[in-house]
Amino acid sequence: WTKETLSIVVVGASGDLARKKIYPALFALYVEDMLPENFTIYGYARSKMSDEEFRDYIGGSLTCRVTDEESCGDKYDTFLERCYYQPGQYSDQSDFKALSDRMTETEKDMKKANRIFYLSIPPSIFTAVAGCASKAASSPTGWTRVIVEKPFGKDSESFAQLERELSNFLSEEQMYRIDHYLGKELIENLTVLRFANLVFEPLWSRNFIRNVQIIFSEDFGTEGRGGYFDQYGIIRDVIQNHLLQIVSLFAMEAPVSLDAEHIRNEKVKVLQSMKQLSLDDVVVGQYRARQGKGVNHPGYLDDDTVPAGSLCPTFAAVALFINNARWDGVPFLLKAGKALESRRTEIRVQFRHVPGNLFRDRLGLDLDRATNELVMRIQPDEAIYLKINNKIPGLGMKLDVTKLDLTYKQRYNQHLPDAYERLILDVVNGDKRLFIRNDELDAAWALFTPILKEIEDKKVQPELYPYGSRGPVGSHYLASKYGVRWGDIMTTDE
Ligand code: BG6
Repeated sequence: WTKETLSIVVVGASGDLARKKIYPALFALYVEDMLPENFTIYGYARSKMSDEEFRDYIGGSLTCRVTDEESCGDKYDTFLERCYYQPGQYSDQSDFKALSDRMTETEKDMKKANRIFYLSIPPSIFTAVAGCASKAASSPTGWTRVIVEKPFGKDSESFAQLERELSNFLSEEQMYRIDHYLGKELIENLTVLRFANLVFEPLWSRNFIRNVQIIFSEDFGTEGRGGYFDQYGIIRDVIQNHLLQIVSLFAMEAPVSLDAEHIRNEKVKVLQSMKQLSLDDVVVGQYRARQGKGVNHPGYLDDDTVPAGSLCPTFAAVALFINNARWDGVPFLLKAGKALESRRTEIRVQFRHVPGNLFRDRLGLDLDRATNELVMRIQPDEAIYLKINNKIPGLGMKLDVTKLDLTYKQRYNQHLPDAYERLILDVVNGDKRLFIRNDELDAAWALFTPILKEIEDKKVQPELYPYGSRGPVGSHYLASKYGVRWGDIMTTDE
């Protein structure tokens, strides 16, 4: 690294994502000595700020996941010394040139200067910034990489247009499209679980799996970001990207190797094999206010930034099918919602019944509850557990359902890295395994665009559910249509 330098430019330096995720992630990487020796961070945004003010601004949000307070203390100051601020307009090449000149200062005497631009900005200015950065601030001696984050368009057409525009300035190789769910520990582990163990992969198909559920719930609403959210809704915000990415990793065939292209080749095949969605397989909901007994939660429509009478879904459940030999007929049930009872994201794999189960009459439970279920809890409190039937110790023969339990907190006593740490590190190292390729997005939009359009054209009324509840009843009807019960609701004791 000694003859190389890395400049990381956070474009949209004063935004929420930057403050909450990007600076803390960069700091954690620095504390863990994962950044190159010569690195510099530049904040770039329109407001005027001095370097000192910028350091104060980000200083307040730097948490220290990795070490104790004391050793972190030193690093805190040395990290901030490497942070600079450059004000500028988003569509002004000369402002980007000024940024580039500043970077050149810190890059002098280095053989190779690499640059990363993190576009932490609204999508309406992606292209302008990509254009200015590439024309006026690309590295003359090293690589230049650009990180972009969703929304990648609103449908197939707008996505294609965005891609066309960006491709005028950036090559596919330079572009790192983030889906931060791919940087989560348990999602990284999914491939390991499947392909580094003998016991799961042989069962991983329609022959043994009855259904797969991917469940995302948050116990808070869209307060404060209703204006943004209303243009997208939960299907675009969470399902079309985060949950669908999980499905593709879950369901893909074994890749040729762990190379990014090999993995993404397999993921995209899953997306391209999806059966077209029909409105019968989608349930939408919107949370309403809940008041009384000491609670006073506003409804979605109570947010001033949300247009009156908006039909935007804050909850959706979807039944997907993959038309291939492995998964033919297996329902993949996805649900995502805001302002629900609890915060959690999990994958639930429900296996088939044991044929001719000898213990049928002794389970003391209905057979549905007695089928094996593998649960990967992505957050909070990461865990993987397998629900099995077990004999209750003692005389006689009574069975109950219990868990083979790998709870991360108990097994690995450490703070897990935030998804953004892993992803930024991968950009530094040029590893694209966890980033989305354009054909994956093409396929994801091809699946959801017609149904989103139908929901909007027909003005489908979302089913109202109270803030803090388990969501619309319609999601149970959808599941039961396929003989499925949502695992998170069936088992409150987990
Ligand atoms: C974002 C969505 O992509 O993911 C948000 O826009 C959502 O609406 C968030 O809250 C959830 O991320 P995490 O990592 O907190 O589960």
